[in-house]
Amino acid sequence: MKVEILRLFHRSKRDKRVTTHCGLVGRAFGASGMYVYGDRDEKVLLSIKKVNEKWGGDFFVEFVDSWKDLIKKSKEDGKSIINLTMYGIPLPEVLEEIQSANKDILVIIGSEKVPLEVYLLSDYNISIGNQPHSEIAALAIFLDRIFNGSEFYREFKDAKLKIVPQEKGKKIIQLKNSDFK
Ligand SMILES: C[S@@+](CC[C@H](N)C(=O)[O-])C[C@H]1O[C@@H](n2cnc3c(N)ncnc32)[C@H](O)[C@@H]1O
Repeated sequence: MKVEILRLFHRSKRDKRVTTHCGLVGRAFGASGMYVYGDRDEKVLLSIKKVNEKWGGDFFVEFVDSWKDLIKKSKEDGKSIINLTMYGIPLPEVLEEIQSANKDILVIIGSEKVPLEVYLLSDYNISIGNQPHSEIAALAIFLDRIFNGSEFYREFKDAKLKIVPQEKGKKIIQLKNSDFK
């Protein structure tokens, strides 16, 4: 099961860090990539590219011109469309159904007000608690549950650096065949 993210209404002035963090969380927690709708912001692409180069994997970030076309195309491709919203159904109530369907997923996270049409086009409107919080937290918990906590031991191909977990201190190893400077 592959999960892609659609980040809606990115505003380059306000959302640079938050959108970048959505990408970092998406990558670290097992999503394949993130589509961004809103202001085109090369800095977001660059930050994620740099992380991929050092820490491995091929997580993509791509800007899209139409969120509606992406949702419709993803539906045609057989993906489940899941909108994360505090107004939705609690994730535990539908998690088993989503996991056992084993369909690829497009998960939507907003920044400012998300239009009603997104709710109507989505197969599921899912809440991570019914209180307002953050797209970064909502995405992290969604991916953690969908992939059953796999972020704890996920390996990234072609990584140049790898952390060796320590009780105290920091240990990073440079992997073989890596030209990381
Ligand atoms: C800061 S919120 C703004 C939401 C906006 N006020 C609205 O009415 O759509 C940004 C995004 O965080 C996510 N989010 C925030 N709280 C959530 C919750 N309790 N459950 C699921 N997603 C949540 C949603 O994807 C939302 O679009």
